[in-house]
Amino acid sequence: MQKILKSQGTWIGKWTFVLAATGSAVGLGNIWGFPYKAGTEGGAAFVLIYLLCIVVIGVPIMISEILIGRRSGNSPINAMKRSAIDSGNSSMWQLVGWTGIFAGVLILSFYSVIAGICINYIFISAFPNELISSSEQFGAVISSPSNLLFWHTVFMLLTMLIVSAGVKDGIGRMVKILMPMLGFLLIFMVIYAMINGAFVEALAFLFAPDFSNIGTDTFLSAMGQAFFSLSLGMGSIMAYGAYMPKEQEIVSTSFSVGSLDTLIAILAGLAIFPIIFAFNLEPGSGPGLVFVSLLSAFNQMEFGQLIGPLFFILLSIAALSSSISILEPGVAYLAEEGFLSRKKSAVFISLLCWIIGIGTALGFNIFADNNGDNPFLSNMELISVQILQPFGGMMIAIFVGWFMDEALIKNEITNKYPIFYKLWRFFIKFIAPLSVAFIFISQLI
Ligand code: PFF
Repeated sequence: MQKILKSQGTWIGKWTFVLAATGSAVGLGNIWGFPYKAGTEGGAAFVLIYLLCIVVIGVPIMISEILIGRRSGNSPINAMKRSAIDSGNSSMWQLVGWTGIFAGVLILSFYSVIAGICINYIFISAFPNELISSSEQFGAVISSPSNLLFWHTVFMLLTMLIVSAGVKDGIGRMVKILMPMLGFLLIFMVIYAMINGAFVEALAFLFAPDFSNIGTDTFLSAMGQAFFSLSLGMGSIMAYGAYMPKEQEIVSTSFSVGSLDTLIAILAGLAIFPIIFAFNLEPGSGPGLVFVSLLSAFNQMEFGQLIGPLFFILLSIAALSSSISILEPGVAYLAEEGFLSRKKSAVFISLLCWIIGIGTALGFNIFADNNGDNPFLSNMELISVQILQPFGGMMIAIFVGWFMDEALIKNEITNKYPIFYKLWRFFIKFIAPLSVAFIFISQLI
């Protein structure tokens, strides 16, 4: 069986890795997660902490994940194991890969339900029901278990089919055309919001921080969101790193992916909040924020019935290029070890995610709490995004900073700008792991 993923060939072309990693990073986290978290966590203070986490923790860990993945060319579990053994350390470091796969299963379970809602919105925005408001529309969508389960199933099947065929063939091409389109459409939405929405109010909300009512959970939530948005701490980027050509520069690539991802999140915020304030909607309303606000914009604008569906098609595809990267580490491992064929591995893990996802689908209706919130979704996010992803990231930082043989690292990171290398070393040894540890500990006391 395929022990070494590299034997399947590296990504074709220099840009393919950047595109695939960007495809993994840019998704619901940017357009659904970032605005809704910024809304519930009080705006600019959250945004600022989030940006800080991207630079201080996220990018240094991304560099580490790519380098581990590329040097071994294996799935994350074996990549960690090999890098540890080659550095004279215990093979138990592979546990980091295992927690990543566990986190991935939990993440994909709810990701698929939300992405299903996006697919549903392609049709809702094409044929809007003029008798009800966009908030009522969202209420109608999530109150029907069968509707949510149907779209959850559709999205999960699509993810499974792509992963079982092998991610590297289709995805590069898909991302190359569709991601820029999504970017342009978002810019269009920002301009629309600038003209028709409460833009100044939105700017103040997103960028004028008020630190008076932030607590330790704001830090935890912003850090989790940074890991989630950059697809870190669970092996996705490591798995893709296995296919990265040797001559490509890891540090600058990580900066490109990090900047593009952040840009898209900020654009999403600038497109959504002016509409929220102009229509007196509630910024802290939670997971429905993007659906409610953008649907009211599409319903009002000229050609909204065309632009709306186009937007939700692109968003669904962005979600798909992320979901395949969530599934990839587990599937790559099972296939690499020869336990199951690639197809069967994809079916097996997808089925697991699908079953757990039923909890999120029903949490919106039958099991909603007294405030109408989805307790299953919040708990899944708490465990996977706010705890397991940062924990995995911290372990990767500790491994690369303190245990991995530096000669192996230097083999991967071309030392064109020694100052960057030194800075990165400092961040990965001290700043990144200590920041994560500090945020964790401040939660406990
Ligand atoms: N980064 C993706 C997003 O922002 O939607 C979600 C994601 C992908 C999380 C891959 C984790 C992951 F490993």
